[in-house]
Amino acid sequence: MAKSKIGAQDDFPRGQTKACQVAGYDLAVYALSDGYYATQARCTHLKASLTDGKIIDDQLIQCHRHHARFDIRSGEVVDWANFPPGIQLLNFICPRKALKTFPVSVEDGTLYVEIS
Ligand code: FES
Repeated sequence: MAKSKIGAQDDFPRGQTKACQVAGYDLAVYALSDGYYATQARCTHLKASLTDGKIIDDQLIQCHRHHARFDIRSGEVVDWANFPPGIQLLNFICPRKALKTFPVSVEDGTLYVEIS
């Protein structure tokens, strides 16, 4: 597993999400109350950018497009796409799929991510 530099901790304000490209991967990096987390940058439903989404309760990321919700720490689907009404008809070709997650660490004010 390779460890790659993301950037300065000060550039990741608490409660926000930021898009980063690290070692050829597009990531969404989240600054939560207990630390920093990273997932793949695109929603597993129809690939909307998760950095345009909304963090809910310091725990979930809600995709802005069809409102799928994922646990940021585990990547698990909490609620699948359900907006606007009728989008569920598409879901038989877009089954629930968790986000990939990547461990983030902080060393001397710098964030690092482990990508396998
Ligand atoms: S693209 Fe994210 S919920 Fe549809």
